[in-house]
Amino acid sequence: MVKLLVNVLVFVIDVLYSDRPYPRFYVLETVARVPYFAYTSVLHFYETLGLWRKADWLKVHFAESWNEMNHLLIMEALGGGNHWGDRILAQTVGLIYYWIIAFLYAVAPSQAYFFMEEVEKHAFHTYDNFLTENEAELKETAAPEVAIKYYRDGDLYMFDEFQTTRVPQSRRPQVDNLFDVFVNIRDDENEHVKTMAACQHPEAYQSLKSPHTAATQNKESDVEVVVLSEVETETGVEV
Ligand SMILES: [Fe+2]
Ligand SMILES: [Fe+2]
Repeated sequence: MVKLLVNVLVFVIDVLYSDRPYPRFYVLETVARVPYFAYTSVLHFYETLGLWRKADWLKVHFAESWNEMNHLLIMEALGGGNHWGDRILAQTVGLIYYWIIAFLYAVAPSQAYFFMEEVEKHAFHTYDNFLTENEAELKETAAPEVAIKYYRDGDLYMFDEFQTTRVPQSRRPQVDNLFDVFVNIRDDENEHVKTMAACQHPEAYQSLKSPHTAATQNKESDVEVVVLSEVETETGVEV
């Protein structure tokens, strides 16, 4: 069923929009962030019922939706959402997928994450092919302002927060032209793939932390080790 859901989406994106790249990316980015809304909605619902409190999961999925929102803003800046027909199609498909993924996440969270892992892999390959086929033209085109703000000049806290396999500030991409922008978007999709895979790990419910939470906890445990070694040194115990 998950594969079928992915294939229907791939058909809409690849076949209907084969010769219109920016509207195609607009549809892709509109629909691809909807599952993150569904995950956060279901997690909020569980918290309201008093069943779970998964603050870090909420942070990570919100940061993922924030990243996809910025991809969408870039596609809008490139004219991808100019035609009303594309907007209606993208929003209708997004609405349908929201409810399907919310239901799937409630009954089988790992399958809902697997769905998104597949969608993000597809997005990665879509952008990778686009970069290969249009390299020269993209390098001659300026980066949209919204991309420069997101990747370089703005507050990059949220940019770090969806990349759960990285430490904060370890990825600061260049954004000198439109080629760089699409390289960054492609690489973001790969970071989503890794985060979705991490969410399916059997230990994830206990161990998954947002990058900033993990970094803070590591710092605190370092301080504890230092304090402990000072105490042990004062009491003459070899450390
Ligand atoms: Fe995206
Ligand atoms: Fe994505």
